[in-house]
Amino acid sequence: MAQLVGLIVTEDDTFKKHFGRLLRAGAIPVSVLEDRTGRDGSPDLIIVDTRGDAASAMSSIERLRAGAPGAGIFAVALVAEPDLILQAMRAGANEFFTWPPAEDTFHGAVRRAAARRETVQGARASATTLVFFGAKGGAGTTTLAVNCGVEVARLSKRSTLIVDLKPGLGEVALFLGVRPRYSLLDAIDNLHRLDREFLKELVVKHKSGLEILSGSDQFDRPGAADGGAIEELFRLLARQYEYILIDAGSQINSCTVASLYTADTIFLVANPDVPSVRNAQRLLERVRQLGACGERVRVLLNRAAEPYPIPPKQIEGALGHPIHHTFSSDYKTVSTALNSGVPLALTGNSDIAAQLDHFTRQILDPGAEGLVAQPARRKLAGLERLVSIW
Ligand SMILES: Nc1ncnc2c1ncn2[C@@H]1O[C@H](COP(=O)(O)OP(=O)(O)OP(=O)(O)O)[C@@H](O)[C@H]1O
Ligand SMILES: [Mg+2]
Repeated sequence: MAQLVGLIVTEDDTFKKHFGRLLRAGAIPVSVLEDRTGRDGSPDLIIVDTRGDAASAMSSIERLRAGAPGAGIFAVALVAEPDLILQAMRAGANEFFTWPPAEDTFHGAVRRAAARRETVQGARASATTLVFFGAKGGAGTTTLAVNCGVEVARLSKRSTLIVDLKPGLGEVALFLGVRPRYSLLDAIDNLHRLDREFLKELVVKHKSGLEILSGSDQFDRPGAADGGAIEELFRLLARQYEYILIDAGSQINSCTVASLYTADTIFLVANPDVPSVRNAQRLLERVRQLGACGERVRVLLNRAAEPYPIPPKQIEGALGHPIHHTFSSDYKTVSTALNSGVPLALTGNSDIAAQLDHFTRQILDPGAEGLVAQPARRKLAGLERLVSIW
């Protein structure tokens, strides 16, 4: 699914925070531009605060409409006065809300904006982003992300990138047996010149076709201060690749949060044991608190072998979330692949290779089993708060 880029035009911090949270809480991933002008200049969704000086808000809408003809522009006012609605419409707004907007009607408007962008403008190239997040260290997050990445590249023959987001010596490149010269840090420290050509220099290509933006070689980076740059990096990468996989490790920090916001699907990797289930519960709760949409989370049970320390049904009950896919425990096959730098898919027949193949085919054909989060078709409530003026 394509990710949308949102811009919030206001002088009021509460307004900005409120809509920032709303934009990030929907089933469609929206990354929010921090810079009012929007460096890449092409937001898909613009929210304009018209509660103060209505006349200058109307000129802003006109200017924004001229600069972004295909964008969805949402005007927000204190009251739904017919005159104001008309002015907003003439200036170029698509939707009109009274403050504060009802969440369901707002998400409905975001879905309409996304659908308009895809049908009217033609979809701009934008990646499907899959984030792999570990319920605990050692759960097999890197193993699944890397092997899925190889399969996506191999089967889809589309441009596919894996990003190693783990701070301090991530292992993605090692698992794939490639030697990177540059890392993610070179990308975030040079965002201003991160075009296709420069990116080509930074990534290493695996023989499967998978490109790798390798992990940092510094223990303290990417750190808390790099969250904004990481969000911007994902926005830029989404325009260069069709599939992006992110190995986000197992720690919640500003950088992994940026990856959760950008994700079409968040694969939460857990083992069938008590620490995994306890941490997975906490992470699911945290994801909900952060406003990243819970509908996008898929639980993967790795190293599943009989007898289960905790049976899968009990895990599902404890998490309140279904297990999306199960990978068997096969240390010999997995560690041989890991130590030789050859991905599982290329090592021949094994149950786990077949499971990965099945899992990846579902990703590539989401329609088949509804894997990658589709916009929720929830019944819109409180429609009276929204006056659709397009
Ligand atoms: N399905 C599996 N069966 C058996 N062993 C596995 C399986 N998946 C992963 N492993 C093994 O578990 C270990 C940890 O795997 P991996 O490095 O992928 O985990 P991780 O969650 O990325 O760890 P970290 O928190 O250090 O980043 C490795 O030795 C790997 O070979
Ligand atoms: Mg790892």
